[in-house]
Amino acid sequence: MNKNNDELFINNGLKKILDEKIVSFHMPGHKCGKIYDRLKYTEMLEGLYKTDTTEIPGTDNLHSPEDIIKESILKAEKVFESGKTYYLINGSTCGIEAAIMATCNPGEKLILSRDSHQSAVNACILGDIVPIYVKSEIDKYTNIQRGNSFEDVKKAIDENEDTKVLFLTYPTYYGITFELEKIISYAHDKEMVVVIDEAHGAHLGLSEKLPKTALECGADIVIQSTHKTLPAFTQSSMMHISKEALKSGRVDTDRIEKMLKMTETSSPSYILMQSLEIAVDIYEKYGKELMEELINNINEFKIKIEEINEYTNKTKIKNVDFFKIHNEKDLTKIFISSLEVGLTGYEFEEILRKEHNIQVELSNYSGALMIATIGNEKEDFEKLENALIEIYIKSLEEGRKKIEPVDYPYELIPQMALTPREAFYSRKKKNVKIEESIGKICGENIVPYPPGVCMIAAGEIIPQEIMDYLKYCKKEGMEITGVKDSRFEYIQIID
Ligand SMILES: Cc1ncc(COP(=O)(O)O)c(C=O)c1O
Repeated sequence: MNKNNDELFINNGLKKILDEKIVSFHMPGHKCGKIYDRLKYTEMLEGLYKTDTTEIPGTDNLHSPEDIIKESILKAEKVFESGKTYYLINGSTCGIEAAIMATCNPGEKLILSRDSHQSAVNACILGDIVPIYVKSEIDKYTNIQRGNSFEDVKKAIDENEDTKVLFLTYPTYYGITFELEKIISYAHDKEMVVVIDEAHGAHLGLSEKLPKTALECGADIVIQSTHKTLPAFTQSSMMHISKEALKSGRVDTDRIEKMLKMTETSSPSYILMQSLEIAVDIYEKYGKELMEELINNINEFKIKIEEINEYTNKTKIKNVDFFKIHNEKDLTKIFISSLEVGLTGYEFEEILRKEHNIQVELSNYSGALMIATIGNEKEDFEKLENALIEIYIKSLEEGRKKIEPVDYPYELIPQMALTPREAFYSRKKKNVKIEESIGKICGENIVPYPPGVCMIAAGEIIPQEIMDYLKYCKKEGMEITGVKDSRFEYIQIID
């Protein structure tokens, strides 16, 4: 019997949060397990700790499935309409690394979007691959990523004809999609392999009202974080190879499998595999119906916010406007801009959590992103609506004024002086004050988190404009990862 629980720090901390019954607009997609309760998967999940096991007779092997894991994956292939699917238990991170290193040889180039997740840059370090970045469009007002234009990707392909692989993120973290079909068709004409990071889009196939999936757009390899937008446990992800890529031999699955063995643990968690299987089951049996319900709830929420907007405009309460909702393409991603009510996104996130028990996915200077999934219910949106009204009234009482957005220097992709691998292994690194780093070669990846996208990668020349932006946002509450000095006073450079 466990007599004293005082030193079970993680367990106690998580239990406390569970007891708070927060409204979840963040990952994972099962929303604190609520969807499992609602759909009565509870009995199966309650005994989960007892089915945590390893490779013994009867449990099969994730790295060469032939039995129960194979059967489960075959069902996933049918449901997601792929040619071949892999269950990933180290998140999309390991899938992205494996896909890039399996398709690019050392010394080769990879065309990738500047908004790529850090795992893509890490794959360049590990695989000695040279990144050719394509700028990602940024919304000036909200600072959210809008993906890549056909023209920009085409230009990068035309200028780098020896490149064999294209890697893009679709949809963006904020649910924005772009002309992926047209881009893929152009890349295929040039005989390139197209790898898509669909970490935020595992749910897209659940409704015609949502954008097409990356597989439907013709992608060859697609990596999805099932845990982010569907009901699966954190770290549970999937990689899909398209039927066409398999048939044409454009993707070498043998190399993919070898790379997955290198990027994943040799003791894969059965708990995570079970959770992936349950996500597939929910997707198939209840997914479409629940997605329809979710989209209705989101639309009703948007209509109510619009009505309040109209009312506040009519009554000329003019020192602040009401919140603005940015919700397009992937309707399940709701970005709420808070500058109108005189709050930065960082302040807005804090108030929502501390005063209204609502947790968002992330905030930036302009506002906060809510991730809604089929695990959310109508009452979650009602609570959000009430919170927005209360925050708005308080802003009026406090006499707050609208805030201007900050200028995100997105057009600027720093010049590469060293490849990511050369920079990583350099022995000539030293710490200097941020002010003294301008124009020097960066020695570490500077990654505002979330969304985990590199603003300056190791090996790139540090531009003044990006540093000014980062310093300003850091002061306002942005978290910067990848750097040794988390206070962001010193930075590593390469001498
Ligand atoms: C665009 C994007 N790709 C990939 C990843 C990595 O996914 P995972 O957490 O499943 O490893 C993330 C994580 O946030 C992401 O935002």
